[in-house]
Amino acid sequence: MRFLIRTWTRQGGENVSHDRELDIERLRIGRGTDQDIELPDLRIAIAHAELVRSGKNAMLIARPGANLLINGAPSKEHRLHGGDVVMLGRYQLTILPGSAGCDLQIDVEEKISARDEKSRRQTRLSMTLGEVLWTRRRLAWLLFLPVLLIALAVPAWLRFHTAAAPQQIQSQNLDQAEYQPPLLPTGAAKLIPTDRWWVSGQSSSAHAYFQNDCAKCHRTAFDKVPNQACLSCHKGTAEHVNDVHWLKLDDFAKARCGGCHQEHKGDTALVIRSSAECTACHAQPQLRFPGIKLQPAADFSQHHPLFTPRVARYDSVTRSFRWIEANQEQPITLHSDTNLKYPHDKHLDPKGLKSPDGRKVLACAACHEPDASGVSFKPIDMQKHCAACHRLDFDPDDPDRTVPHAQPAQVVGVIRDYYARAALAGGVTKPGAPEIVQLRRRPGEELTPPQARAALEWADQQSAVVIDEVFDKRLCGYCHIVKRSDDPALPWDVAPVTL
Ligand code: HEC
Ligand code: HEC
Ligand code: HEC
Ligand code: HEC
Ligand code: HEC
Ligand code: HEC
Ligand code: HEC
Repeated sequence: MRFLIRTWTRQGGENVSHDRELDIERLRIGRGTDQDIELPDLRIAIAHAELVRSGKNAMLIARPGANLLINGAPSKEHRLHGGDVVMLGRYQLTILPGSAGCDLQIDVEEKISARDEKSRRQTRLSMTLGEVLWTRRRLAWLLFLPVLLIALAVPAWLRFHTAAAPQQIQSQNLDQAEYQPPLLPTGAAKLIPTDRWWVSGQSSSAHAYFQNDCAKCHRTAFDKVPNQACLSCHKGTAEHVNDVHWLKLDDFAKARCGGCHQEHKGDTALVIRSSAECTACHAQPQLRFPGIKLQPAADFSQHHPLFTPRVARYDSVTRSFRWIEANQEQPITLHSDTNLKYPHDKHLDPKGLKSPDGRKVLACAACHEPDASGVSFKPIDMQKHCAACHRLDFDPDDPDRTVPHAQPAQVVGVIRDYYARAALAGGVTKPGAPEIVQLRRRPGEELTPPQARAALEWADQQSAVVIDEVFDKRLCGYCHIVKRSDDPALPWDVAPVTL
């Protein structure tokens, strides 16, 4: 049998038909995609009905379990005539006599049910927000404006345009954060929108103590943080390179502290932990800085140049320290210049050393005690480590008299005092001393002014000799580097000790 199937659909309010011709014995109708007339409605079975030839006519037969509604009456089987109307779910099939070589024409049309019709009407009736209130755009603006006012305009006004603010901050030496605008109640301080609302993240803990004082770093609004802001606190920060030639390049002249140290990211970004920050230049320094004498350093464990130790050396001419760097031409022994004469070998004699408590064998730990960290050593201390064997007595006739250690001016004073007093007291047995100094005094006896002058003259000479002895050889000079000076009050210099 030949069928003409005409499917009607609504497009843009108009009915549009689509024709299809089939030449088959059995026309299958149902919801399944394999059906010849496919009707996607859940109320229709996958294979719902079949149309077969029956004599001259066509016969519509419902598949087992399915029902048909033909011309308004339910039926299982029906011999079709032109003008018959079959309802299947929301589809209406109208049977028309065939023409132009077709046995039968079937018009398939989707009919909207009453319920569908109602819900369609409802959707058409429902209103947009704009019809009741305002358009969404206008509403968004309405909500945005208070945000703009509270979060931007008010803080900005408080920050920049409270006329009294800058002077008051200066005169009372307040931080911006502590400043309270006068019109606002003090209790509500936390709720007052200030510029601290604009912060983009958590402060680093090192800077937390002034984190609300944005102006400490942000000197001008809408501008980058200038290096000067950081340097106002970090005064000691040195340039990255010593050579001014390189400093003129943009790499350094335009480098910003914020380029490496980032704020508002908690503690994760203020301190740099990424090697890439450094290897950008140091992996191949010659590429970026032609002619530079710098060894490549691409990573720490594998491609890093050897370290060159730097040692502080005391320069006795300038009386200051300077750093010496070891290199191929200038190797330095690791023995540092302490300005102390101290021979390890003599003190570590395995047979022992003479000491007030008999012979004594010294171990390293006698002088080198580990410090609290266990990483290094406590500094050597003269009183603790040397004084037991090396006493600071200056007069062989009076071995209990000692000078204080590490105080050259007092040493001079102590010696001068000692001999002046001895000369005036008399009874000094030193060879070459004048008679008035050697004579023992009777109790209550007073010296005449010329006698006293003679005694003190001797005392001056004697102390000058002893001071030279003490500093030059016998005491200070035994352990220290000493040098005569031009200062009559302090005739000797002791080179500073750098342990
Ligand atoms: C310790 C210095 C410091 C303080 C204090 C500080 N900032 Fe920053 N801030 C920076 C640096 C550095 C940047 C990075 C931008 C740059 O390099 O200029 C930055 C960037 C910003 C940015 C841009 C977004 C970003 O994360 O890069 C905002 C917004 C900001 N700061 C707000 C604030 C506010 C608000 C305060 C006060 C509550 C404040 N800052 C206090 C140093 C500081
Ligand atoms: C108001 C003074 C002040 C300003 C401005 C300031 N700092 Fe600091 N900064 C400090 C103090 C204080 C410390 C803590 C010092 C310490 O821990 O020894 C510190 C610590 C640091 C540290 C070391 C952090 C650590 O954990 O070891 C770095 C890096 C640093 N600041 C960089 C900067 C940079 C970059 C800027 C500019 C954006 C800046 N600072 C602005 C006061 C300031
Ligand atoms: C090329 C990247 C770089 C630049 C630019 C830079 N620094 Fe640093 N800075 C470092 C590195 C790396 C360290 C050591 C690791 C650390 O503490 O972050 C450091 C350490 C510091 C420290 C801590 C020192 C300490 O003793 O703990 C301070 C403070 C500091 N820098 C301040 C500054 C200031 C101020 C500027 C701008 C003038 C600046 N830095 C520019 C890389 C840089
Ligand atoms: C903009 C390029 C650049 C960046 C980034 C840079 N450096 Fe340098 N660095 C140099 C230059 C150039 C010199 C050598 C200057 C000279 O020869 O006087 C140098 C010298 C050094 C030196 C001394 C080396 C020596 O033998 O004297 C050290 C150490 C150093 N940088 C470490 C670092 C570290 C660590 C970083 C990462 C935080 C870093 N550099 C990032 C350019 C850079
Ligand atoms: C009687 C005290 C004493 C004893 C014992 C002693 N030292 Fe020292 N040591 C010193 C003094 C003082 C210095 C620093 C003065 C100097 O070397 O010029 C020093 C310095 C050193 C130095 C540093 C050298 C330098 O130039 O920086 C080393 C290493 C050292 N001692 C190792 C030892 C060892 C190892 C032993 C044991 C075998 C030992 N010492 C025993 C007193 C002592
Ligand atoms: C246990 C006793 C003892 C202690 C402790 C001691 N010394 Fe000595 N020291 C001696 C003796 C004994 C001599 C003489 C050794 C010799 O001449 O053979 C001497 C000699 C010296 C000499 C002269 C070496 C020479 O070249 O003639 C110096 C300098 C010296 N000690 C410094 C020190 C210093 C500094 C300390 C403390 C860090 C110290 N001594 C601790 C017993 C000690
Ligand atoms: C037996 C060796 C010895 C003799 C003798 C000695 N000193 Fe020292 N002196 C030391 C040692 C060791 C130190 C370093 C440890 C210390 O400061 O206690 C030192 C340190 C010093 C210092 C530096 C103190 C400081 O804090 O930097 C001065 C100054 C000094 N001595 C002056 C003198 C004078 C003056 C004399 C002579 C009266 C003298 N010393 C005799 C061993 C000696």
